[in-house]
Amino acid sequence: MVGQDKIELAKKKAAEKAVEDNLQKNMIVGIGSGSTVVYAVQKIAQMNRKNDLQLKCIPTSFQAYQLIVENDLTLVSLDQYPEIDLDFDGADEIDANLNLIKGGGGCLVQEKIIASNSTKVIIIADYRKNSKLLGEKWKKGVPIEVIPMAYVPVMRKMEKIGGHPVLRMAKAKAGPLVTDNGNFIVDVDFGRIKTPSELEGKLLAIPGVVDTGLFIGMTSKAYIGQQDGNILIKP
Ligand code: 5RP
Repeated sequence: MVGQDKIELAKKKAAEKAVEDNLQKNMIVGIGSGSTVVYAVQKIAQMNRKNDLQLKCIPTSFQAYQLIVENDLTLVSLDQYPEIDLDFDGADEIDANLNLIKGGGGCLVQEKIIASNSTKVIIIADYRKNSKLLGEKWKKGVPIEVIPMAYVPVMRKMEKIGGHPVLRMAKAKAGPLVTDNGNFIVDVDFGRIKTPSELEGKLLAIPGVVDTGLFIGMTSKAYIGQQDGNILIKP
């Protein structure tokens, strides 16, 4: 099997197993963003069709909204259901303590809101994302959502706390990427992150920062598809 096929199979297996193990009837389900979540939504939709599970789904992004609608799942909002039973989401990196880097796909603020209001957060990923320390495998930096008018002073402040910030540019459009919330993303390389919660505190203290892609202490379980077809479940 070639490399990309192996990665896709690992994502699919992890997502399907995570859904099989955790999904129950009548749940309010958070739907994360990214390519791995697509496999989870397909599995959720299949189980929902087969067993009439009466699920209600809340999106974390425009992509998730479309996935819910296209798969004939019931779309609801956080206003209606502020307590979510189960959230499925992907990650760019997962450390030994199940802290995460997220936001590689440009979505992180709504993802963090949904995760923080979920009883269980289930992370699904392939073997490339598993590491001991954040920043060990994910080399593109910590994605940070920033209010557009503040991006220059915010980037300077990030440099002062030891980061190397880069404003993320859009693809197929001139200029910066604009998030679902109308903000910019700055990717900040901090090398290996030994104390993620300390870093998170420093970043959130900068005016203009909306939120960061560091998800600390939020993950209940991570399902990580391996190269040999097995699934590593952490913890
Ligand atoms: C989007 C995210 C994604 O969950 C993360 O980038 C993982 O994506 P993928 O499943 O495509 O590897 O945080 O901003």
